[in-house]
Amino acid sequence: MDEHHDQLADINKQLPLKDKLVSTHKSLNDLFPFIVRVAVALYDSETKVLKTYLHSGDTDNPLEHYQTLLDHAPSLKKILDKGHPRVINNLLTFDNGSHEHTRRIGRGGFAASYTLPIFNEGDFIGFIFFNADKTDVFTESVLSQIDVYAHMITLMVINELSSIKTLTAAVKTTGHITHMRDPETGSHLDRMSRYSRLIATELAETYDLNDDYIEHIFMFSPLHDIGKIAIPDHILLKPGQLDDDETTIMKTHVHKGCEIIDELLVNFGLNNIKHMDILRNIAEGHHEAINGSGYPAGIMGESIPLEARIVAVADVFDALTSKRTYKEAWSNEKAIELIKSLAGEKLDQNCVNALLKNMDQVVRIQLQFKENIIG
Ligand code: C2E
Ligand code: SIN
Ligand code: SIN
Ligand code: FE
Ligand code: FE
Repeated sequence: MDEHHDQLADINKQLPLKDKLVSTHKSLNDLFPFIVRVAVALYDSETKVLKTYLHSGDTDNPLEHYQTLLDHAPSLKKILDKGHPRVINNLLTFDNGSHEHTRRIGRGGFAASYTLPIFNEGDFIGFIFFNADKTDVFTESVLSQIDVYAHMITLMVINELSSIKTLTAAVKTTGHITHMRDPETGSHLDRMSRYSRLIATELAETYDLNDDYIEHIFMFSPLHDIGKIAIPDHILLKPGQLDDDETTIMKTHVHKGCEIIDELLVNFGLNNIKHMDILRNIAEGHHEAINGSGYPAGIMGESIPLEARIVAVADVFDALTSKRTYKEAWSNEKAIELIKSLAGEKLDQNCVNALLKNMDQVVRIQLQFKENIIG
């Protein structure tokens, strides 16, 4: 009997999606050495933003952290409108126009490209890009083989996204069933998750953060306070200041949150989704303070995971600018003053600066996700 080495065996393993994509790219390279990059961009149908998600290259990627409104990327929009993949066999002569997205997404120094729209149950979810370092390589026969890989990559992406969706849905439903009373509305979560992404994106260069990490912060930050569902009504919904005992109980929402997350991961079989540490760190560390005065662990500075420091700023800023049972909504100006004064003490200075540098986008997010009665 002959031994055969399954080139795609990595896909069977419990590996981050990025590693599976790299293996898939390697295997594809045995057939087609000219393919130098495979990348996935995801579409957020709510904001109509297309953003980079995954690529098989190394980290210093010129296309990292790029996002655009799909409407501002006419060449990609055309692919979607037609519903067909796009082959450009000579990017060197392709009319790039002056759009940044075309230079960055479409060309990026490559000689040829093959771009497919990807769908889940008919819903558009993004694009896969195959980039080559030679012109005229994407012939019909090559394309038909690449298509098989594209669909395999699509399934891997959908699998990961649907696991995260299941988790988010599980959490939302749990919250709804037990707590129609939740004082934090859905729009708080919409806003604070986008502030978190804004901060992470601004800090990407400083901390060498990849798109995958940023996206996970966005996806997981709405779960930061899930432990509040375990806090009794008379405390959670108290119209005034909490007394010491009540505060002690309130603070257990962090630990309760971690317990609930662990239980959800087990019950929904989601433990093998990568980056669950990001989720745990957010739930556990979003009330830690830079000077060690926070809870539950009282850890300081950089020993607080970055994702927790980011979410803390997003959460406090949105808590201040929102109405709570115990307080009125503050103006942005007043909230900015407070988080400035907390920077370096309670909140991470860089994370605060990153938010303040992007106040125009903060205001845009506030306008898009206004408070609604039902939440
Ligand atoms: P939350 O309402 O989402 O607030 C999140 C964090 O934003 C708070 O964490 C705090 O750091 C900041 N924050 C919110 N409002 C204010 C404010 O008016 N002034 C200042 N300086 N900071 C503010 P913290 O304090 O650990 O509280 C965690 C959670 O405990 C809060 O989440 C809220 O659900 C509850 N909570 C805190 N204080 C009170 C209170 O006086 N009454 C009631 N009913 N709940 C409270
Ligand atoms: C990326 O750079 O991470 C993704 C996709 C692209 O825009 O080519
Ligand atoms: C939830 O209760 O479902 C989420 C809690 C929150 O972050 O406000
Ligand atoms: Fe909290
Ligand atoms: Fe919150």
